Amino acid sequence: MATRINPSILAADFANFESELSRIRSADLVHVDIMDNHFVPNLTFGLGMVERLQQISPLPLDIHLMIDDPERWAPGYAEAGAYSVTFHAEATTEPVALARRLRQIGARAGIALKPGTDVAPYLELLPEFDQVLVMTVEPGFGGQSFMESTMPKLAQLRSEVQKTGLDVWLQVDGGITEQTIEIAALAGADTFVAGSSVFGAENPAAQISLLRERAASHRHGAGNLES
Ligand code: DX5
Ligand code: ZN
Repeated sequence: MATRINPSILAADFANFESELSRIRSADLVHVDIMDNHFVPNLTFGLGMVERLQQISPLPLDIHLMIDDPERWAPGYAEAGAYSVTFHAEATTEPVALARRLRQIGARAGIALKPGTDVAPYLELLPEFDQVLVMTVEPGFGGQSFMESTMPKLAQLRSEVQKTGLDVWLQVDGGITEQTIEIAALAGADTFVAGSSVFGAENPAAQISLLRERAASHRHGAGNLES
C-alpha cells in the first residue's frame, strides 16, 4: 500500500503559487481546496485559478470541492485536466452519476464525508469511486485540530477495501501533523492532506519526508503481515 502526501495550498502564499509549488516537489499531489461560501463559510478560488495551476504545477492536482451544486461545476475541473476531483456527499443526491461523469472525462472520482456524515450508505458505492476523503475537521478552514472521533469511518472503509480488493485511496484531510498522521495511518488512511504542517514548516521538503516516514511506519495492518 503506497503512502501519499498531498500538501494543501490553502496554507500557501496565494500571491506566489509558482514558488510555493516548487517547495513541495517531493510530494505526491497538490491538494486544492475550492470553497464557495455556501457549502462552507469561506471562499477561495474557482476554475480559472485551477486552469492556471494546471499549467504551472509540476505535480498532479487533487481537487477538493467544498461547494454546493457539484453537478454543475465538478466536470469543468475534470475537463481542465485535474488528476482527481472530489465532491462532498452532503452536496449531492446523485453521487454515482456524478462520479461516472468525472471518470468518463478522465479524472479520478472522489467522494468526501464531513465529520458528522455516516460512511455506511457509501460502502456499497465504493466500486464507483477512486478515492474517499474522510474529513478530520469541519471543512472550511485550515489550521484546525484533528478529530480522532472520525477514525472508525476509516477502519470501516479499509476493511471494505480489503474485502473487495478495490483500488480506492483513503484520504484524510484536516489537522494532519507528524503526530496525528500516525493515528490516521493506523486507522487505515493511505493518502494524507497536510496544509499548515507542510507550508508552516521551515523546510517543507523535510516535513514531507517526516510525514511520509511516520505514515509508512504506522501503516494499517503492517504488524499483521509478519509471519
Ligand atoms: C479544510 C480543507 C483542508 C485544509 C487542511 O476545509 O479541506 O484541505 O487545507 O488544512 P490543515 O492541514 O492546516 O488542517
Ligand atoms: Zn481539503
